Amino acid sequence: MKKWTLNSWKKFPVKHLPEYRDQKELDLVLSKVKKYPPLVFAGESRSLKKALADVVRGKAFLLQGGDCAESFAEFHPDNIRDTFKIILQMSLVLTASASVPVVKVGRIAGQFSKPRSAPTEKKEGKELPSYLGDNINGMEFTEKSRQPDAKRLFRAYSQSASTLNLLRAFSQGGFADLRQVHLWNLGFIKDKTKGKYREIEDKISDALAFMEACGINSDNNRRLRAVNFYTSHEALHLPFEQAMTRVDSTTGEYHDTSAHFVWIGDRTRQLDGAHVEFCKGIKNPIGLKCGPTLKSDELIKLCNILNPNNEPGRMTLISRFGADNVEKYLPKLIKSVKKEGLNVVWSCDPMHGNTIKAATGFKTRTFDSVVKEVKNFFAVSQSEGSYAGGLHIEMTGQDVTECTGGAQKISEKDLSNRYRTHCDPRLNADQALELAFLISEEIKKNSKISNKIIQAAS
Ligand code: PEP
Ligand code: CO
Repeated sequence: MKKWTLNSWKKFPVKHLPEYRDQKELDLVLSKVKKYPPLVFAGESRSLKKALADVVRGKAFLLQGGDCAESFAEFHPDNIRDTFKIILQMSLVLTASASVPVVKVGRIAGQFSKPRSAPTEKKEGKELPSYLGDNINGMEFTEKSRQPDAKRLFRAYSQSASTLNLLRAFSQGGFADLRQVHLWNLGFIKDKTKGKYREIEDKISDALAFMEACGINSDNNRRLRAVNFYTSHEALHLPFEQAMTRVDSTTGEYHDTSAHFVWIGDRTRQLDGAHVEFCKGIKNPIGLKCGPTLKSDELIKLCNILNPNNEPGRMTLISRFGADNVEKYLPKLIKSVKKEGLNVVWSCDPMHGNTIKAATGFKTRTFDSVVKEVKNFFAVSQSEGSYAGGLHIEMTGQDVTECTGGAQKISEKDLSNRYRTHCDPRLNADQALELAFLISEEIKKNSKISNKIIQAAS
């Protein structure tokens, strides 16, 4: 086997990388990025891997969410705050239902590059390169804007660094206080659902009152007011990921320090491809998107390449088949992973298999199809005796109108009101939180499986 090096991926076929006209400029930008401080510390990625190992064992649940594509235009402290806030609110609901801790991972502080289904886009007879994400080119439909510009990587790095800085402050500085998160959820139930889902919050109120009576509250217990929050994105732009990969001085291992967790997309997971080669050598926890074209034997080979020591927490398999296709594709994959005894987290992305085009021309997803895919994922996992360990969603804390349905009953006609995404349609704040409430029954049943796994292991 050929030796892995930082740039060994360059010898493998590569898909979805931008073609820069000015290669010299790209090299110059990357040589500077290489010297920039890491965004995360390797020790933090190791902590996340440990937390994900708990998910593998059925002792925790993974919640991963954020924008499809972060953008320069939507960069604002309020947007960062509101996305973080909804992730906390969802986590509280999920924790109360599952009675296990929730591992919180944002698609944030680096989720810029996008693989696109077509290399070009046509509008009114004009054909231009597709938009590939704000760290590569611009959304504006002009020749100039659609040219990949290496200098955009600087701006993306800087945005990621300040986003992460604020997230760290929110996580540790008191914003994540459990009492406060509970109050936000009570507000949502009262104002948006006419009291529906009250039962879950009542349970939380009782638990908080009980703890308070025992003298445990967020004033005297840090764990009730601080959270661990991790970042993630698709490791698509390999030249940038390479520039951010450093040797961890405490262990001598390579870590991609652009995020705690990176994943390989459904379009770039070829066994002999550059993205798999790159991810093989970094020690971060890795995600792998599993779509309808993935064969069982291919999946096993990918897991063996990416996780040769079968380390729990290293691999997260993210199922994304579409609401009506889960039963068709997922059981086979779960069976072969079980048969091989592979330690993986199974997570569900109910977004990417459910994208449709509305009559009004907008790319959208129905809230019902999103809920249905998650429920089917839980049902299949249950019948296969496998622990459904996570949820991976595209969402925002803003009140956008990008996905139809939900408590606000967003219709196709409403989509144009606040359609702001730079790529795929996201659940808005209410839809994301409602999703957490709607799957609470499935999550509860899920904990029966985790108890079995825990018992079997002990
Ligand atoms: C994504 O998660 O943004 C994405 C492009 O997903 P997939 O690779 O599953 O299509
Ligand atoms: Co997307």
